[in-house]
Amino acid sequence: MSETALSDSEYLSRQSVFLGQLPEDSLVLMPTNPVVYRSNDTAFPFRANSYILYLCGWSDPGAVLMAHREGAEWVTTLFIQPRDTKAEIWEGRRVGVEGTVSGWPVDKAHSLEDIADSVTPHLDACTSVYCISGLNPVLDELISGSDGAELADPTPILDDMRVLKSNEEIRFMQESADIASASHIAAMRATFPGIGEWQIQSFIESHFTANKSRWSYPSIVGGGDNATILHYNSNDDEISDGELVLVDAGCEVSGYASDITRTWPVNGKFSDQQREIYELVLKAELAGIESCQVGSPWSSMHHATSRVLAQGLIDLGVLDCSLEDALGDDFNGPFRNYFMHGSGHMLGLDVHDVGGGRQGDDGPERKFEPGMVLTVEPGLYFGSWRTDIDIPDRYAGIGVRIEDNVLITADGPVVLTSSCPKTIDEIEALVGNNG
Ligand code: GLY
Ligand code: MN
Ligand code: MN
Repeated sequence: MSETALSDSEYLSRQSVFLGQLPEDSLVLMPTNPVVYRSNDTAFPFRANSYILYLCGWSDPGAVLMAHREGAEWVTTLFIQPRDTKAEIWEGRRVGVEGTVSGWPVDKAHSLEDIADSVTPHLDACTSVYCISGLNPVLDELISGSDGAELADPTPILDDMRVLKSNEEIRFMQESADIASASHIAAMRATFPGIGEWQIQSFIESHFTANKSRWSYPSIVGGGDNATILHYNSNDDEISDGELVLVDAGCEVSGYASDITRTWPVNGKFSDQQREIYELVLKAELAGIESCQVGSPWSSMHHATSRVLAQGLIDLGVLDCSLEDALGDDFNGPFRNYFMHGSGHMLGLDVHDVGGGRQGDDGPERKFEPGMVLTVEPGLYFGSWRTDIDIPDRYAGIGVRIEDNVLITADGPVVLTSSCPKTIDEIEALVGNNG
Protein backbone atom coordinates (compact mmCIF):
# COMPACT_ATOMS: atom_id res chain seq x y z
CA MET A 1 0.00 0.00 0.00
CA SER A 2 1.60 3.26 -1.06
CA GLU A 3 -1.26 5.73 -1.17
CA THR A 4 -4.95 6.25 -0.52
CA ALA A 5 -7.45 5.52 -3.28
CA LEU A 6 -9.57 8.66 -3.01
CA SER A 7 -8.69 12.29 -2.36
CA ASP A 8 -7.97 13.39 1.22
CA SER A 9 -10.84 15.85 1.02
CA GLU A 10 -13.31 13.01 0.38
CA TYR A 11 -12.12 11.01 3.40
CA LEU A 12 -12.08 14.11 5.62
CA SER A 13 -15.58 15.00 4.56
CA ARG A 14 -16.79 11.46 5.37
CA GLN A 15 -15.12 11.62 8.79
CA SER A 16 -16.72 14.96 9.49
CA VAL A 17 -20.23 13.83 8.45
CA PHE A 18 -19.90 10.63 10.51
CA LEU A 19 -18.40 12.20 13.63
CA GLY A 20 -20.85 15.09 13.43
CA GLN A 21 -23.69 12.63 14.11
CA LEU A 22 -22.18 11.21 17.33
CA PRO A 23 -22.76 12.47 20.87
CA GLU A 24 -19.91 14.67 22.10
CA ASP A 25 -18.82 12.27 24.86
CA SER A 26 -18.23 9.41 22.40
CA LEU A 27 -15.14 7.59 21.33
CA VAL A 28 -14.72 5.82 17.97
CA LEU A 29 -12.55 2.73 17.60
CA MET A 30 -12.71 1.28 14.09
CA PRO A 31 -10.72 -1.93 13.62
CA THR A 32 -9.82 -3.54 10.32
CA ASN A 33 -10.33 -7.23 9.54
CA PRO A 34 -8.15 -9.88 11.16
CA VAL A 35 -5.69 -11.87 9.06
CA VAL A 36 -7.24 -15.33 8.53
CA TYR A 37 -5.10 -18.42 8.04
CA ARG A 38 -5.98 -21.04 5.42
CA SER A 39 -3.26 -23.59 6.10
CA ASN A 40 -0.65 -23.73 8.84
CA ASP A 41 1.13 -20.37 8.58
CA THR A 42 -0.27 -19.41 5.15
CA ALA A 43 -2.89 -16.69 5.28
CA PHE A 44 -5.78 -15.93 2.92
CA PRO A 45 -5.09 -12.77 0.89
CA PHE A 46 -5.85 -9.86 3.19
CA ARG A 47 -8.85 -7.62 2.50
CA ALA A 48 -9.29 -4.58 4.74
CA ASN A 49 -12.59 -3.97 6.48
CA SER A 50 -14.83 -1.82 4.29
CA TYR A 51 -15.60 0.69 7.07
CA ILE A 52 -11.97 1.57 7.73
CA LEU A 53 -11.39 1.73 3.97
CA TYR A 54 -14.36 4.08 3.74
CA LEU A 55 -13.21 6.39 6.51
CA CYS A 56 -9.48 6.66 5.81
CA GLY A 57 -8.44 4.38 2.93
CA TRP A 58 -6.13 2.24 5.09
CA SER A 59 -5.86 -1.14 3.32
CA ASP A 60 -3.02 -2.90 5.19
CA PRO A 61 -3.61 -5.41 8.00
CA GLY A 62 -3.34 -4.53 11.66
CA ALA A 63 -4.94 -1.12 12.07
CA VAL A 64 -7.40 0.72 14.28
CA LEU A 65 -8.80 4.15 13.51
CA MET A 66 -9.62 6.10 16.69
CA ALA A 67 -11.50 9.38 16.92
CA HIS A 68 -11.77 11.27 20.20
CA ARG A 69 -12.82 14.76 21.21
CA GLU A 70 -10.37 17.46 22.24
CA GLY A 71 -12.55 20.38 23.26
CA ALA A 72 -14.77 21.22 20.32
CA GLU A 73 -12.72 19.23 17.83
CA TRP A 74 -12.59 15.59 16.86
CA VAL A 75 -9.04 14.24 16.56
CA THR A 76 -8.29 11.13 14.50
CA THR A 77 -5.48 8.68 15.26
CA LEU A 78 -4.51 5.66 13.19
CA PHE A 79 -2.83 2.83 15.10
CA ILE A 80 -0.69 0.86 12.68
CA GLN A 81 1.94 -1.86 12.56
CA PRO A 82 5.22 -0.05 13.29
CA ARG A 83 8.29 -0.18 11.06
CA ASP A 84 10.11 -3.45 11.78
CA THR A 85 12.88 -4.54 9.41
CA LYS A 86 12.62 -8.22 10.32
CA ALA A 87 8.86 -8.33 9.74
CA GLU A 88 9.13 -6.21 6.60
CA ILE A 89 11.70 -8.62 5.10
CA TRP A 90 9.04 -11.35 5.26
CA GLU A 91 5.73 -9.50 4.92
CA GLY A 92 6.47 -6.37 2.94
CA ARG A 93 7.22 -2.73 3.52
CA ARG A 94 5.27 -0.78 6.12
CA VAL A 95 4.39 2.88 5.90
CA GLY A 96 5.32 3.54 9.53
CA VAL A 97 4.12 6.26 11.86
CA GLU A 98 5.63 9.24 10.00
CA GLY A 99 4.47 7.93 6.61
CA THR A 100 0.95 7.47 7.95
CA VAL A 101 0.64 11.03 9.20
CA SER A 102 2.04 12.53 6.00
CA GLY A 103 0.18 10.24 3.56
CA TRP A 104 -3.20 9.44 5.15
CA PRO A 105 -6.12 11.67 6.14
CA VAL A 106 -5.59 11.42 9.92
CA ASP A 107 -4.29 13.83 12.53
CA LYS A 108 -1.99 11.42 14.38
CA ALA A 109 -0.50 7.94 14.09
CA HIS A 110 0.77 5.55 16.74
CA SER A 111 2.19 2.06 16.83
CA LEU A 112 -0.37 -0.65 17.59
CA GLU A 113 1.98 -1.64 20.40
CA ASP A 114 0.79 1.50 22.25
CA ILE A 115 -2.90 0.90 21.77
CA ALA A 116 -3.82 -0.17 25.31
CA ASP A 117 -2.01 2.77 26.93
CA SER A 118 -3.37 5.26 24.41
CA VAL A 119 -6.97 4.09 24.30
CA THR A 120 -7.62 3.41 28.00
CA PRO A 121 -7.78 7.07 29.18
CA HIS A 122 -10.18 7.91 26.36
CA LEU A 123 -12.32 4.86 27.15
CA ASP A 124 -12.45 5.89 30.80
CA ALA A 125 -13.57 9.38 29.82
CA CYS A 126 -16.28 8.51 27.30
CA THR A 127 -19.91 7.46 27.70
CA SER A 128 -20.30 5.58 24.41
CA VAL A 129 -17.68 3.76 22.39
CA TYR A 130 -18.57 3.26 18.73
CA CYS A 131 -16.81 0.08 17.66
CA ILE A 132 -17.46 -2.97 15.48
CA SER A 133 -16.87 -5.79 17.94
CA GLY A 134 -15.57 -9.23 17.03
CA LEU A 135 -12.81 -8.06 14.72
CA ASN A 136 -10.02 -7.10 17.11
CA PRO A 137 -9.81 -9.08 20.38
CA VAL A 138 -7.50 -6.51 21.99
CA LEU A 139 -10.08 -3.76 21.47
CA ASP A 140 -12.93 -6.00 22.56
CA GLU A 141 -11.11 -6.76 25.80
CA LEU A 142 -10.25 -3.12 26.46
CA ILE A 143 -13.87 -2.13 25.96
CA SER A 144 -15.34 -4.90 28.08
CA GLY A 145 -12.81 -4.10 30.86
CA SER A 146 -13.58 -0.38 30.85
CA ASP A 147 -15.73 1.30 33.46
CA GLY A 148 -19.02 2.33 32.04
CA ALA A 149 -18.23 3.02 28.38
CA GLU A 150 -21.24 1.64 26.58
CA LEU A 151 -20.66 -0.16 23.29
CA ALA A 152 -22.49 1.48 20.38
CA ASP A 153 -22.83 0.36 16.77
CA PRO A 154 -21.39 2.81 14.22
CA THR A 155 -22.66 0.89 11.20
CA PRO A 156 -26.20 2.31 10.82
CA ILE A 157 -24.79 5.83 10.40
CA LEU A 158 -21.99 4.69 8.08
CA ASP A 159 -24.29 2.42 6.07
CA ASP A 160 -26.60 5.32 5.33
CA MET A 161 -23.61 7.38 4.20
CA ARG A 162 -22.26 4.59 1.99
CA VAL A 163 -25.52 4.22 0.06
CA LEU A 164 -24.92 7.25 -2.17
CA LYS A 165 -21.73 7.08 -4.23
CA SER A 166 -19.66 10.17 -4.98
CA ASN A 167 -18.20 10.97 -8.39
CA GLU A 168 -14.81 9.63 -7.23
CA GLU A 169 -16.40 6.35 -6.17
CA ILE A 170 -18.40 6.06 -9.39
CA ARG A 171 -15.17 6.43 -11.41
CA PHE A 172 -13.70 3.41 -9.59
CA MET A 173 -16.94 1.47 -10.00
CA GLN A 174 -16.98 2.22 -13.72
CA GLU A 175 -13.37 1.03 -14.00
CA SER A 176 -14.24 -2.14 -12.10
CA ALA A 177 -17.28 -2.68 -14.37
CA ASP A 178 -15.16 -2.17 -17.49
CA ILE A 179 -12.53 -4.70 -16.41
CA ALA A 180 -15.18 -7.27 -15.49
CA SER A 181 -17.07 -6.69 -18.77
CA ALA A 182 -13.89 -7.21 -20.80
CA SER A 183 -13.12 -10.37 -18.82
CA HIS A 184 -16.50 -11.87 -19.72
CA ILE A 185 -15.93 -11.01 -23.39
CA ALA A 186 -12.49 -12.66 -23.29
CA ALA A 187 -14.02 -15.77 -21.71
CA MET A 188 -16.83 -15.93 -24.30
CA ARG A 189 -14.27 -15.75 -27.09
CA ALA A 190 -12.19 -18.53 -25.53
CA THR A 191 -15.13 -20.92 -24.98
CA PHE A 192 -15.51 -24.21 -26.90
CA PRO A 193 -17.54 -27.41 -26.35
CA GLY A 194 -15.86 -29.58 -23.75
CA ILE A 195 -14.08 -26.66 -22.06
CA GLY A 196 -13.47 -27.01 -18.32
CA GLU A 197 -15.26 -24.62 -16.00
CA TRP A 198 -11.88 -23.92 -14.40
CA GLN A 199 -10.51 -22.84 -17.78
CA ILE A 200 -13.24 -20.23 -18.17
CA GLN A 201 -12.49 -19.12 -14.61
CA SER A 202 -8.83 -18.70 -15.54
CA PHE A 203 -9.64 -16.49 -18.57
CA ILE A 204 -11.84 -14.32 -16.37
CA GLU A 205 -9.47 -14.01 -13.44
CA SER A 206 -6.30 -13.62 -15.51
CA HIS A 207 -7.96 -10.60 -17.07
CA PHE A 208 -8.59 -9.20 -13.58
CA THR A 209 -4.96 -9.73 -12.61
CA ALA A 210 -3.66 -8.32 -15.89
CA ASN A 211 -5.56 -5.14 -15.07
CA LYS A 212 -4.19 -4.86 -11.51
CA SER A 213 -7.49 -5.97 -10.09
CA ARG A 214 -8.73 -9.02 -8.20
CA TRP A 215 -12.01 -10.82 -7.76
CA SER A 216 -14.62 -9.25 -5.51
CA TYR A 217 -16.13 -12.70 -4.73
CA PRO A 218 -15.20 -16.22 -5.80
CA SER A 219 -16.05 -16.61 -9.48
CA ILE A 220 -19.02 -18.84 -10.29
CA VAL A 221 -18.62 -20.84 -13.51
CA GLY A 222 -21.43 -23.38 -13.80
CA GLY A 223 -22.03 -25.46 -16.91
CA GLY A 224 -25.37 -27.20 -17.54
CA ASP A 225 -27.04 -28.23 -14.28
CA ASN A 226 -24.28 -26.56 -12.25
CA ALA A 227 -25.76 -23.23 -13.32
CA THR A 228 -28.81 -24.04 -11.20
CA ILE A 229 -26.75 -24.04 -7.98
CA LEU A 230 -26.70 -20.41 -6.95
CA HIS A 231 -23.35 -20.25 -5.18
CA TYR A 232 -21.63 -23.01 -7.16
CA ASN A 233 -17.92 -22.30 -7.30
CA SER A 234 -16.02 -25.57 -7.35
CA ASN A 235 -15.71 -24.92 -11.12
CA ASP A 236 -14.30 -28.38 -11.74
CA ASP A 237 -16.60 -29.93 -14.39
CA GLU A 238 -16.22 -30.07 -18.13
CA ILE A 239 -19.05 -28.44 -20.10
CA SER A 240 -20.54 -30.54 -22.87
CA ASP A 241 -21.52 -29.52 -26.37
CA GLY A 242 -25.10 -28.20 -26.22
CA GLU A 243 -24.89 -26.91 -22.65
CA LEU A 244 -25.05 -23.37 -21.37
CA VAL A 245 -22.49 -21.94 -18.99
CA LEU A 246 -23.42 -19.36 -16.37
CA VAL A 247 -20.54 -17.10 -15.33
CA ASP A 248 -21.01 -14.81 -12.33
CA ALA A 249 -17.72 -12.99 -11.85
CA GLY A 250 -16.70 -9.49 -10.84
CA CYS A 251 -13.63 -7.67 -9.67
CA GLU A 252 -12.53 -4.92 -7.35
CA VAL A 253 -10.79 -1.61 -8.04
CA SER A 254 -9.57 0.33 -5.01
CA GLY A 255 -12.01 -1.74 -2.98
CA TYR A 256 -15.03 -1.04 -5.24
CA ALA A 257 -16.76 -4.11 -6.66
CA SER A 258 -18.35 -5.06 -9.93
CA ASP A 259 -20.68 -8.06 -10.14
CA ILE A 260 -21.61 -9.37 -13.60
CA THR A 261 -23.41 -12.50 -14.72
CA ARG A 262 -23.63 -13.67 -18.30
CA THR A 263 -24.88 -17.00 -19.65
CA TRP A 264 -23.81 -18.40 -23.00
CA PRO A 265 -23.91 -21.65 -25.00
CA VAL A 266 -20.51 -23.31 -25.08
CA ASN A 267 -20.98 -24.23 -28.75
CA GLY A 268 -21.93 -20.66 -29.69
CA LYS A 269 -25.56 -21.36 -30.62
CA PHE A 270 -28.58 -21.21 -28.29
CA SER A 271 -30.98 -24.14 -28.75
CA ASP A 272 -34.68 -23.26 -29.06
CA GLN A 273 -35.30 -24.17 -25.41
CA GLN A 274 -32.30 -22.19 -24.18
CA ARG A 275 -33.34 -19.25 -26.33
CA GLU A 276 -36.86 -19.25 -24.84
CA ILE A 277 -35.55 -19.07 -21.29
CA TYR A 278 -32.74 -16.64 -22.12
CA GLU A 279 -35.08 -14.21 -23.89
CA LEU A 280 -37.45 -14.29 -20.95
CA VAL A 281 -34.71 -13.57 -18.41
CA LEU A 282 -33.34 -10.78 -20.62
CA LYS A 283 -36.81 -9.24 -20.90
CA ALA A 284 -37.14 -9.36 -17.10
CA GLU A 285 -33.69 -7.84 -16.65
CA LEU A 286 -34.46 -4.95 -19.01
CA ALA A 287 -37.74 -4.33 -17.16
CA GLY A 288 -35.83 -4.37 -13.86
CA ILE A 289 -33.32 -1.83 -15.13
CA GLU A 290 -36.07 0.40 -16.52
CA SER A 291 -37.76 0.41 -13.10
CA CYS A 292 -34.67 1.93 -11.44
CA GLN A 293 -36.06 5.47 -11.42
CA VAL A 294 -35.47 8.17 -8.82
CA GLY A 295 -38.27 8.13 -6.25
CA SER A 296 -39.40 4.55 -6.90
CA PRO A 297 -39.30 2.21 -3.91
CA TRP A 298 -36.51 -0.37 -3.75
CA SER A 299 -38.99 -3.24 -4.13
CA SER A 300 -40.31 -1.88 -7.44
CA MET A 301 -37.30 -3.38 -9.22
CA HIS A 302 -37.96 -6.87 -7.83
CA HIS A 303 -41.64 -6.52 -8.66
CA ALA A 304 -40.82 -5.51 -12.25
CA THR A 305 -38.55 -8.51 -12.90
CA SER A 306 -40.95 -10.86 -11.11
CA ARG A 307 -43.99 -9.83 -13.17
CA VAL A 308 -42.16 -10.49 -16.42
CA LEU A 309 -40.78 -13.83 -15.25
CA ALA A 310 -44.11 -15.04 -13.86
CA GLN A 311 -46.03 -14.09 -17.02
CA GLY A 312 -43.32 -15.68 -19.17
CA LEU A 313 -43.47 -18.94 -17.21
CA ILE A 314 -47.23 -19.01 -17.82
CA ASP A 315 -46.75 -18.28 -21.54
CA LEU A 316 -44.17 -21.07 -21.82
CA GLY A 317 -46.51 -23.52 -20.10
CA VAL A 318 -44.31 -24.00 -17.05
CA LEU A 319 -47.00 -22.58 -14.77
CA ASP A 320 -50.68 -23.24 -15.34
CA CYS A 321 -52.42 -20.48 -13.43
CA SER A 322 -53.25 -16.77 -13.53
CA LEU A 323 -50.53 -14.13 -13.21
CA GLU A 324 -51.95 -13.21 -9.81
CA ASP A 325 -51.64 -16.80 -8.60
CA ALA A 326 -48.17 -17.21 -10.13
CA LEU A 327 -46.97 -14.12 -8.28
CA GLY A 328 -48.76 -15.10 -5.08
CA ASP A 329 -48.83 -13.17 -1.82
CA ASP A 330 -45.94 -10.78 -1.38
CA PHE A 331 -44.38 -12.00 -4.66
CA ASN A 332 -43.71 -15.43 -3.15
CA GLY A 333 -45.89 -17.51 -5.46
CA PRO A 334 -44.92 -20.56 -7.53
CA PHE A 335 -42.75 -18.54 -9.94
CA ARG A 336 -40.26 -18.55 -7.04
CA ASN A 337 -39.72 -22.27 -7.65
CA TYR A 338 -37.65 -21.22 -10.66
CA PHE A 339 -36.36 -17.83 -9.43
CA MET A 340 -35.13 -18.36 -5.90
CA HIS A 341 -33.03 -15.28 -5.17
CA GLY A 342 -33.47 -11.53 -4.94
CA SER A 343 -33.47 -9.35 -8.05
CA GLY A 344 -30.50 -7.28 -6.92
CA HIS A 345 -28.52 -5.65 -4.16
CA MET A 346 -26.52 -2.53 -3.47
CA LEU A 347 -22.98 -2.57 -4.80
CA GLY A 348 -19.94 -0.68 -3.52
CA LEU A 349 -17.06 -1.47 -1.19
CA ASP A 350 -18.86 -4.73 -0.44
CA VAL A 351 -20.26 -6.78 -3.29
CA HIS A 352 -23.44 -7.16 -1.27
CA ASP A 353 -23.16 -3.61 -0.14
CA VAL A 354 -24.78 -2.04 2.86
CA GLY A 355 -28.01 -0.10 2.83
CA GLY A 356 -30.18 -2.17 0.51
CA GLY A 357 -33.89 -2.55 0.97
CA ARG A 358 -34.97 -1.11 4.25
CA GLN A 359 -33.46 1.91 5.95
CA GLY A 360 -32.21 0.53 9.24
CA ASP A 361 -33.82 -2.56 10.70
CA ASP A 362 -37.41 -1.41 10.96
CA GLY A 363 -37.29 1.80 8.96
CA PRO A 364 -39.26 2.69 5.87
CA GLU A 365 -38.40 1.16 2.53
CA ARG A 366 -35.60 2.96 0.73
CA LYS A 367 -36.41 4.84 -2.47
CA PHE A 368 -34.04 5.11 -5.39
CA GLU A 369 -31.87 8.22 -5.25
CA PRO A 370 -29.22 9.55 -7.63
CA GLY A 371 -25.84 8.06 -6.70
CA MET A 372 -27.06 4.61 -5.66
CA VAL A 373 -25.44 1.69 -7.46
CA LEU A 374 -27.18 -1.67 -7.47
CA THR A 375 -27.26 -4.90 -9.38
CA VAL A 376 -30.21 -6.12 -11.42
CA GLU A 377 -29.97 -9.89 -11.73
CA PRO A 378 -33.05 -11.99 -12.46
CA GLY A 379 -32.60 -15.63 -13.33
CA LEU A 380 -34.47 -18.86 -14.03
CA TYR A 381 -33.22 -22.27 -12.92
CA PHE A 382 -34.47 -25.70 -14.00
CA GLY A 383 -32.16 -28.11 -12.20
CA SER A 384 -32.75 -31.60 -13.59
CA TRP A 385 -31.68 -32.88 -10.16
CA ARG A 386 -34.64 -31.16 -8.45
CA THR A 387 -37.21 -33.68 -7.20
CA ASP A 388 -39.12 -31.24 -4.99
CA ILE A 389 -40.68 -29.25 -7.84
CA ASP A 390 -41.96 -29.90 -11.34
CA ILE A 391 -39.13 -29.48 -13.87
CA PRO A 392 -40.42 -29.59 -17.47
CA ASP A 393 -38.30 -31.97 -19.57
CA ARG A 394 -37.95 -29.27 -22.19
CA TYR A 395 -36.01 -27.02 -19.85
CA ALA A 396 -34.26 -29.55 -17.62
CA GLY A 397 -30.61 -28.64 -17.04
CA ILE A 398 -31.01 -24.98 -17.99
CA GLY A 399 -29.94 -22.16 -15.65
CA VAL A 400 -29.82 -18.57 -16.86
CA ARG A 401 -28.98 -15.39 -14.97
CA ILE A 402 -28.18 -11.98 -16.44
CA GLU A 403 -26.69 -9.41 -14.07
CA ASP A 404 -25.71 -5.80 -14.66
CA ASN A 405 -24.55 -2.97 -12.42
CA VAL A 406 -26.77 0.09 -12.51
CA LEU A 407 -26.17 3.66 -11.36
CA ILE A 408 -29.29 5.64 -10.48
CA THR A 409 -29.29 9.14 -11.95
CA ALA A 410 -31.85 11.92 -12.28
CA ASP A 411 -31.90 11.16 -16.01
CA GLY A 412 -32.67 7.47 -15.49
CA PRO A 413 -30.64 4.32 -14.91
CA VAL A 414 -27.09 4.14 -16.29
CA VAL A 415 -25.78 0.62 -16.87
CA LEU A 416 -22.13 0.66 -15.79
CA THR A 417 -21.66 -2.80 -17.32
CA SER A 418 -23.20 -1.90 -20.69
CA SER A 419 -20.01 -2.87 -22.55
CA CYS A 420 -20.65 -6.51 -21.64
CA PRO A 421 -22.80 -8.01 -24.45
CA LYS A 422 -26.07 -9.69 -23.55
CA THR A 423 -28.30 -9.99 -26.61
CA ILE A 424 -28.48 -13.42 -28.21
CA ASP A 425 -27.03 -12.11 -31.48
CA GLU A 426 -24.08 -10.43 -29.73
CA ILE A 427 -23.32 -13.51 -27.68
CA GLU A 428 -23.57 -15.94 -30.60
CA ALA A 429 -21.21 -13.72 -32.58
CA LEU A 430 -18.65 -13.74 -29.78
CA VAL A 431 -18.57 -17.29 -28.37
CA GLY A 432 -15.61 -19.21 -29.77
CA ASN A 433 -14.65 -16.26 -31.95
CA ASN A 434 -11.00 -15.61 -31.31
CA GLY A 435 -10.55 -13.52 -34.40
N1 GLY B 1 -22.19 -12.73 -7.14
C1 GLY B 1 -23.10 -12.73 -6.09
C2 GLY B 1 -24.33 -12.09 -6.49
O1 GLY B 1 -24.62 -11.97 -7.65
O2 GLY B 1 -25.06 -11.58 -5.68
MN1 MN C 1 -23.24 -11.90 -9.21
MN1 MN D 1 -25.08 -9.83 -7.48
